[in-house]
Amino acid sequence: MEKPKVVLGVSGGIAAYKACELLRRLTESGHDVRVVPTEASLHFVGAATWSALSGHPVSTEVWNDVHEVPHVRIGQHADLVVVAPATADLLARAAHGLADDLLTNTLLTARCPVVFAPAMHTEMWEHPATRENVATLRRRGAVVIEPAVGRLTGVDTGKGRLPDPGEIFEVCRRVLARGPAAPDLAGRHVVISAGGTREPLDPVRYLGNRSSGKQGYALARTAVARGARVTLVEANTGLPDPSGADIVRVGTATQLREAVLKAAADADVVVMAAAVADFRPAEYAAGKIKKKDGQEPAPIALVRNPDILAEVAGRRARPEQIVVGFAAETDNVLANGREKLRRKGCDLLVVNEVGERRTFGAEENEAVVLAADGGETPVPFGPKEALADTVWDLVSPRLA
Ligand code: C5P
Repeated sequence: MEKPKVVLGVSGGIAAYKACELLRRLTESGHDVRVVPTEASLHFVGAATWSALSGHPVSTEVWNDVHEVPHVRIGQHADLVVVAPATADLLARAAHGLADDLLTNTLLTARCPVVFAPAMHTEMWEHPATRENVATLRRRGAVVIEPAVGRLTGVDTGKGRLPDPGEIFEVCRRVLARGPAAPDLAGRHVVISAGGTREPLDPVRYLGNRSSGKQGYALARTAVARGARVTLVEANTGLPDPSGADIVRVGTATQLREAVLKAAADADVVVMAAAVADFRPAEYAAGKIKKKDGQEPAPIALVRNPDILAEVAGRRARPEQIVVGFAAETDNVLANGREKLRRKGCDLLVVNEVGERRTFGAEENEAVVLAADGGETPVPFGPKEALADTVWDLVSPRLA
């Protein structure tokens, strides 16, 4: 079988050194990789490195091997183009369709999925020019993964770091697995809640639940690979950040509600995968609750938390917004699920039976996705990413 053909575009940022590791991962996992650096990027990593690691000649401009028409051929034959790092300048040239070097020519001739992994200083990432260029690329179907937050060049920290090569590789792997299909969530903003809320009783104790957050994270990773801008509202998962998503960390149901409503204001899709506490302690003790000799503990009074899913579905920040809920049931799974779907007012409800091997924290899941229009999609026992992809398969046509 022929190896999948990947073009690795490298533009002129210090993070170019991380692309060496990405290249190794791609070649070692059986991809035929052609590296196309920009002239500026050679200040950071030289052509000899790319050539030795990829086993192909390397050129930055269109005037080498002209008889092979490289400015057209490389893009035409690719199964995937990934640009890592993508600088503000490269994003601008790509958004405007410039063709002043081999990489931008390649971007114009490629008909396969294209992934940009931007890396730059926070100010450049946040500049309206870059914001608009990124939005343009996404609208046209490119996967632009959100930079990570952390240490930047010099003394600065903030948003703009190139995600770890391993994580960019995982995005590439997922995009390639989908074949030549255009990333169907490109240009969409999806908000996903994940994990379980903790409702504090006193400074050291809380009421919580067993949700691991793995299903929500699988939804985030798959949505990134399908081109979405992803906001992940995370409650107490302790899981490593999924690459390419914006993360908002919360603790309690009240904080989760605030974060979800804020992010939902311009969202195309809201998926409530988090296990939100239905109740919270009526009172919070400012000091640790002490046991007293010879006295029984005082009962804990609870009050209801707002139902965020019902609120998001009822409010619909945008009329065409799609709202997806989750429900864990122990009996009468489908009947209870149907009733819950109606009561919450969401478009899709992922219902799973909890118990035995189908417990919280597992790597696999088995579910039925119920749709408000009567649809019923069983998802067999399998990895949480497979369930996540089924959810997006059902969401995507509803967005059209
Ligand atoms: O009512 P139940 O907790 O079974 O519903 C589960 C669904 O509702 C999940 O999607 C969960 O995220 C959401 N939920 C919520 N706010 C609550 C409780 C649950 O949004 N207070």
